[in-house]
Order: sequence, then C-alpha cells, then structure tokens
Amino acid sequence: MLQYFDPKKECNPNKDYGTPSVNSDFETNNSADLVKITIDGQDIAVPAGTSIMRAAALADINIPKLCATDSVEAFGSCRLCLVEIEGRRGLPASCTTPVEEGLVVKTQNKKIAKIRRNVMELYISDHPLTCLTCSANGNCELQDMTGQVGLQEVRYGFEGENHLNAKKDTSNPYFTFEPSKCITCSRCIRACEEVQGSFALTLDGRGFDSKVVAGQAESFMDSECVSCGACVQACPTSTLMENSVIEQGQPEHSVITTCAYCGVGCSFKADIKGDEVIRMVPFKGGEANRGHSCVKGRFAFGYATHTERVTTTMIRNNINEAWKKVSWDEAVVFAAKRIKSIQTKYGTDSVGGITSSRCTNEEVYLVQKLIRAAFGNNNVDTCARVCHSPTGYGLKTTIGESAGTQTFDSVEKADVVMVIGANPTDAHPVFASRLKKRLREGAKLIVVDPREIDLVNSPHINTQHHLKLRPGTNVAFVNARADVIFTEGLHAQTYIEERWELEAFDRWEQFISQSCNSPEALADITGIPAYELRAAARLYAETKNGAIYYGLGVTEHSQGSTMVMGIANLAMLTGNIGREGVGINPLRGQNNVQGSCDMGSFPHELPGYRHVSDDAVRQLFEQHWGVEIDKEPGLRIPNMLDAAVAGSYKGLYCQGEDIAQSDPNTRHVEAALRNLDCLIVQDIFLNETAKYAHVFLPGASFLEKDGTFTNAERRISPVKKVMAPLGGKADWEATMALSNALGYEMKYKHPSEIMDEIASLTPSFKGVSYQRIAEEGSLQWPCNDETPDGTPIMHIDSFVRGKGFFALTEYVATTEKVNKHFPFLLTTGRVLSQYNVGAQTRRTPNSDWHDKDVLELHPHDGEDRGIVEGDLVQVKSRSGETVLTAHLTTRVQPGIVYTTFHHPESGANVVTTDNSDWATNCPEYKVTAVQLNKVNQTSQWQKEYEALNKQQVSFLPQADE
Ligand code: SF4
Ligand code: SF4
Ligand code: SF4
Ligand code: FES
Repeated sequence: MLQYFDPKKECNPNKDYGTPSVNSDFETNNSADLVKITIDGQDIAVPAGTSIMRAAALADINIPKLCATDSVEAFGSCRLCLVEIEGRRGLPASCTTPVEEGLVVKTQNKKIAKIRRNVMELYISDHPLTCLTCSANGNCELQDMTGQVGLQEVRYGFEGENHLNAKKDTSNPYFTFEPSKCITCSRCIRACEEVQGSFALTLDGRGFDSKVVAGQAESFMDSECVSCGACVQACPTSTLMENSVIEQGQPEHSVITTCAYCGVGCSFKADIKGDEVIRMVPFKGGEANRGHSCVKGRFAFGYATHTERVTTTMIRNNINEAWKKVSWDEAVVFAAKRIKSIQTKYGTDSVGGITSSRCTNEEVYLVQKLIRAAFGNNNVDTCARVCHSPTGYGLKTTIGESAGTQTFDSVEKADVVMVIGANPTDAHPVFASRLKKRLREGAKLIVVDPREIDLVNSPHINTQHHLKLRPGTNVAFVNARADVIFTEGLHAQTYIEERWELEAFDRWEQFISQSCNSPEALADITGIPAYELRAAARLYAETKNGAIYYGLGVTEHSQGSTMVMGIANLAMLTGNIGREGVGINPLRGQNNVQGSCDMGSFPHELPGYRHVSDDAVRQLFEQHWGVEIDKEPGLRIPNMLDAAVAGSYKGLYCQGEDIAQSDPNTRHVEAALRNLDCLIVQDIFLNETAKYAHVFLPGASFLEKDGTFTNAERRISPVKKVMAPLGGKADWEATMALSNALGYEMKYKHPSEIMDEIASLTPSFKGVSYQRIAEEGSLQWPCNDETPDGTPIMHIDSFVRGKGFFALTEYVATTEKVNKHFPFLLTTGRVLSQYNVGAQTRRTPNSDWHDKDVLELHPHDGEDRGIVEGDLVQVKSRSGETVLTAHLTTRVQPGIVYTTFHHPESGANVVTTDNSDWATNCPEYKVTAVQLNKVNQTSQWQKEYEALNKQQVSFLPQADE
C-alpha cells in the first residue's frame, strides 16, 4: 500500500530522520506533486527533494548512518548509509541522494553489509575502547551502529594514530570536548553553521590528520562559540558532552516543558534522574524553537537548586530586624492581617499587587483575581509596564490586538527584515539563529539601532543598512520613512482602500506629507543621512515580504507608544500584514510577558484586554467571582511608588518581580518600598525588593510546578513539574493561601482548573484547555469556536478592530536633553549570557562570560576625558550617579554610552530617570543624559547598597534555625 508522508506533520519529534524535511508546504501541494518510490518493497510517497534516507525513515526503515542527522544538511562522508538502486551502478549514499519517481531501492544486501562493517572497523580502530566507562554508554550512535552492522572484529588493531592522544578541552563550564573520541563526522561543525549561525568550528587538516577545532585552534571559551549546545546535541559520540551527564550519568526519563527565560518560549526535554534535572535538551517538536536552544535555556538551570534559594516562609515587623521563620499558615495570616489593617486605616485603595511575567498564566491570573476580588481594587500591574506596555497600547489602537501578528516560522518567508531597537542575538538568541539562517539564504537586513549589535557583523550576512539613529528620535525616523514610502508612491493603495479607515488615512496622509517629515528635514535630528534613509525605506516598501521585528529600543521611550503606532502604520501602508513572511513582531523580553498581559495584569483591563469600565465584562467576572469589581482603573507601578512615597499607598504583594533593581530611578523606588507597612515578596531568592519586605513567601522555579507560558507568538505552551516545590507550595498555591487568609475563598486543586476558568471568561482563550495543549503541543490564541486550532497569523482578511486605524505620530522631542552638564546619552541593554536582573543567571556559570556590567564608550570620548580601558567612571545623571568600569569600543557612537543592568551593585537604574511614555508610563530607559568623570572609588549609593545587602543577608535565618 502506498504511504504518503506530510513532512511537517507526520514526524515523531523523538526520532532522527537523518536529513531535514524539505522546505515545502505540504498542504498547498496535492498528492500529484509527491514523488513515489519503493524502498525494501514498501511504496512510499514523499515531497520532491526528500532524501532516500529520510523517505526510508518515514516508513520506519532505518538505514545505518553516522555523519547524518536531521538537524543539518547531509554531508555524505561516512559511507555507512549506502543503498542499492535498481538499474544504477554503484552504491550511492542515501543521505545525499534525493528521491526520484519510480526508484526501487534496497537498503540491505550482503555487499552493503560488508562495506558497512569495513567502515565501522576503520572508525573503531581509531576510537578508545572505553565504552563501559564512557559517559555516552547506552546513548552512543557509534556504539549503536557497531551493533547494527554486526561488527565482530577489527583487523587494523586499536592503535589509531590520529586522535587517541588528543587533549580534552574543558574550558566551557557546561560541556567538555574530548577529541580522542571524535569520528570527524562534522555534524558539530554543520550544526554550528546551519542551526546556530556562529561558524565557530572548522575541520582542520586533511584525511587522517583532520580534526575539529574551535575558532583559530583555540579553546571553546576563547573562540566565537556562544555555548548554544547545538554541536553537543548533534555529536553522535561523547566527544562533545554535557558536564552534567559526565558527572551524574545518563538521565532516566524526560518531561517536555518550556524555557523560563525569554519570550521566544523554547520547548525543552528536561532529562531527569530521580527528581534531579540532568540536562535540558531542546525539543525538536517545539514549534517556537524547532530543536534549537541558547546558553540560558540549555544550560543555565542550576539556579533552581542553588544554595541561595530561600525556601522558608518568613515574617518580620520592620526591615531593620531579623527574619523569623514561620509556617505557611502563620505567614499568610500575618500578611492578611496587615493588609486588612492598612485598608481599615488608609482605605481600600491603599494596597495593591504586581504580577510576575516569570510565573505561569494561571499564577498571574490568580494574582490579579486576588487583587480585584480580595483586595477590592484594580491596583494590579506587571513588569510589562516597564517593557512592552507601549506595544499593547500601540497595536490595540491601530490593528485592534495587543500582540504580535506572526509565528517565528514566518521569518523563513521574509525577503526584507527590519530590526528596530532589538538585539536578537543577545536577547532572543534562538529566534536570531532562525533569522540569520534566512538572511544567509538571501533575505535583506536593515538594522535601526544607535549601537552596532552583533547581527550587523554576523558571518555570511550582508547588512544592507545599519541606520545609527540618535537615541530618542525613533518617531522622527519612522515618520521620515513613511514619508518616503507615501510621497514616492510606494504604498499599497488597493490594500489601503480595502482595509483601512479611510477618514483616518486621509488625515494621516495630510500629516505625513508635510515637509517637516521628510528625511532631509529630519536628518539632523535622527543623525541618519537622508539618502540612506530613503534607500532603506524603498528597500522595505518595494519587496514582496517585508517584516518588522522590534524590541525595547522602540518601547522604552517617552514616545514608545507613538513609535509602535508608527511601525504599525508602516506595515499597513505597505500591505505587510496578514500573511507569512511579513508582520509586526514585538520581541518580548520575559518568558511570559505576553501571558501576563493577556491575563489581566493591567490596572485598567480584565483578562483578554477588556476594560474594567465595560459593565458587561465586569458583570461576567463579578458573577463568576461572586464579588463586585471596581469600575475605576487602578494604579500603575509608577503611581503606586509615587503614592507610597506620598504616604497614601501602604501595602504591596509583589510576586516574582524585582522592582528595586529593574525599575528606573532606584532611589525613588527604595524610598517607596521603605514607606510601606506591608511588603509581601514571593520569590525564589532574597532579591533586592525582598530586602525591604515584611513577609517572604518562597517562590517555586519553573521546574517545580505545572502551568503554561505564552510566548511572543501568542503560543501557549506547557510548563511541567519535575520536582516538588522546594518551599512547599507552587506559586499558585501560595496565592490561594493568601487569598483564603484574606477571606476570599479559592479552592483550585490543579492549575488546569484555573485555565478552565480563564477559558470560560476570555473569548480568545475559549478553546484552550490542558487537554488540547497536550494534544497539540501548544496553541496560539485566539483559540475559540472560529479558530479551534488557534491562530498562527493574525489579521489575514481583516483587522481585529475591523478596519485598520492610521494614527497620527507627531514627533515630540524628549525632555531628557544633553547639555554641557550632561553631554552624553546613556542607553541600556542586555548581553546573551545574563538575563534581565540576573537573579537566575548570576547564580550559574553564565557569569563566566559576564561577571559585571561595564560602561561602553567610544575611544574618542575616552581620549577626550582621559579615560582608558578598565578605569572607574562616574556616570552622573539628573537622577543620580553610579560608578562603572570603562570599556572602550567603536560599537557605540561618539557621544553615546551604553551599559547593562544585570548586576544590582552596578546601579544602572540609579541613573535612569522618571521620564516615561506619554500613554503607558513605560520608563524612558533608553535615553538618559549623563556626565562622565574618571574616579577612583564607587559611588555613595553603591556603598549604601553594599551595607544594606550585608545587613539583610545577615537577617536570614541560619541553616540550623
Ligand atoms: S556550542 Fe553552539 S556556538 Fe558553540 S561551537 Fe557548539 S554549536 Fe557553535
Ligand atoms: S565532535 Fe562529535 S560531531 Fe563533531 S566531528 Fe567529532 S564526533 Fe562528529
Ligand atoms: S532563546 Fe529564550 S526561550 Fe529559547 S532557550 Fe534561550 S532564553 Fe530560553
Ligand atoms: S550517513 Fe550518509 S554518508 Fe554518513
């Protein structure tokens, strides 16, 4: 019987098919486009371009192989996979031979078997015979193939001349390279090139002398390696092996879960022994990452069992006294009493809460429910306030939905990619690898960033335009770009007529065609030469598929929301929305920031982005929750902090956020926290905020609970418990306990019940359930009666708001200006190895790559100021000052300095100001005017920080208490 194979859908993600699936959209093909062949008597139909090896594997005929694996293109070097083709001479390699109509293939005969044994004999003669003590024992493809070909003797002895004495490279903290076991199959090299796009490995020498080397024959740590692990995963032997497996042995079982770091939302197999995670292996079936990973998700999970985890519930009357270890019951009763007494004294609105984008959807939902139902107000906010709140506002206004429009797969169809204010290789590395692959295939790249991000100079990528705009001038830039597209007639007129509100368009048309919006008029403001801006605008507008990816360099400005609307205008103007390869793609920072917004974490919105003032929506929740909900929006985080300083806001429940480190103007945040009468912090570590807390509830890491995360593609993916919560409760259980202590009953037995409640109350989640997620692997919302399988691409036939809305985006310069007292502009960002406030990654060997934040400045500025590499530099703004170590680099332009904020003692946010986006209060982190001075000691704030840190750590209960 003829078997048809859909290359995308029929694959078992746990099986290696030898070569990748062909890049064909099966659903648009009909069976007539398939190629039919016969392998070992079985008739098989597969898409053209499929290798014989893969076609056979799809029919469960497993041809021996060593140099082939389905994450990389076939190479054809080991000759183990040869087959016989009727009517053809010789024995071709099945991994490099594509199917052809009518081929009749035999995968096994005596001659083939003999050749395969000979091949294996040669391999084994140059391989250490230490199988029983090898860390790959039982999970080694060389071992498997030896058995599969029936090798019984090795005629050439075991004294191979090439590799047996090669030295180990243990420079990488997470994996070891043991070249004596290398079979030079080059799978690692191809994985580094094709999957990761780093080109860190090469095959040095020829023939028997060939060997794998990193960089210029350096150690892995000194090479361009970014420790993504793709080579380790591709290696068929133990040559490249995780140190955790070397130390702890092979895992026993696996659980599929989702990375808890960034908004890419990579799917992983947590490989476990007992209840200990041995390694995290990127899951091939994960649709966000397609089997790839970065150093954080792949290796930096050890924080979950770090000795600094705080796993006991603690209380204290004030922050100048030691913590008292208490039971969960005592802690929540203490917290509830304090919250109630504050409300009695200062009023219902004097307390509130902050949800966590590190926590699951279900946990976020419960926190906002607790604030609304048990606290009785809408004073709930989330960290999206300080990152992507302008995305929510800007996209809702223009296209009607507060989320990105695409899947990550979509980038494979893009012809021009514009990356604005984002640094994907550092902040969204797995997406960056997919993007780089597309760029190597020929898509064009436009980078809009004041700093030279790594993408600009990636190997084999040609950046058409790097537009180095001045920080704070995004809106001027986007207007100039729209002006070029419109005035040069490059816009999609028919699309506009069909899909836009024409009245708004007419208004916008008049606005954008004003001469003040031309690239020439704005060149002095943006710093971008008009000719280059025009060329880049034409490139984007004239291509078939133009995609925009953006990050916090767009949102964290005084005009963040305006810029998001400007980006939406560009996409709508050119018809680049509503299909694959195009779209508006906000690259979300934290793992569940999309989810925390979806779940009603904003003070003005209930789950599903519905305004609290909408009577019908409120009634729906009121009926279900059995309480009355305030119809007035509550306080945003900055308002909470201001009110706390003013003395009218006295109680805060802060789950899994570290506002003392992450929010701007640290001294103001600290003053606010010190003024609270009840700060309840729920976290896995004594973070900076917890140093001001009265109640500490131990949080659970992503390995300690069930739930779901939603990534930047709106993809809801499962989070699975692999070990018991170290503090005794998952975070949703802790919130329930607090709610019950406050007198508002919650009695969920499992997070699936919370998701059922969310689905019953939120139209875009109506079709979501744990059962559906288990069946599908993940679901992209909206998922409801109209779209039961979810929605990969949004706005296909119409916008969520009906017609698209063209918002006017007038450029208004920030008030944060340089002058002779503050002549430099400071902008901030992230590095690959650290994550956000660093609470997790700083407690892993990732700090080997970045153990402190430095200040990047241009060598000319260094020379002017007498600052050399490694000097201590005072960075002083209108808000405050800190001291950082200088790093001179041409990555930044003269007049612009840059730092990261991964280490609390750096005090990057002591310097950032209270300025914020006009619509959402998202802080203007990306533009701070500063002065630089060479100094020889740390700042006053840093000294105070050190003292506070020492004191607060000493207040923790001792181990034997
Ligand atoms: S870990 Fe990643 S970047 Fe490093 S050599 Fe391997 S594949 Fe290349
Ligand atoms: S290190 Fe592993 S993957 Fe790389 S060539 Fe050697 S055996 Fe092959
Ligand atoms: S890209 Fe993001 S989600 Fe994926 S492994 Fe890295 S940190 Fe995790
Ligand atoms: S697996 Fe085909 S040549 Fe190695």
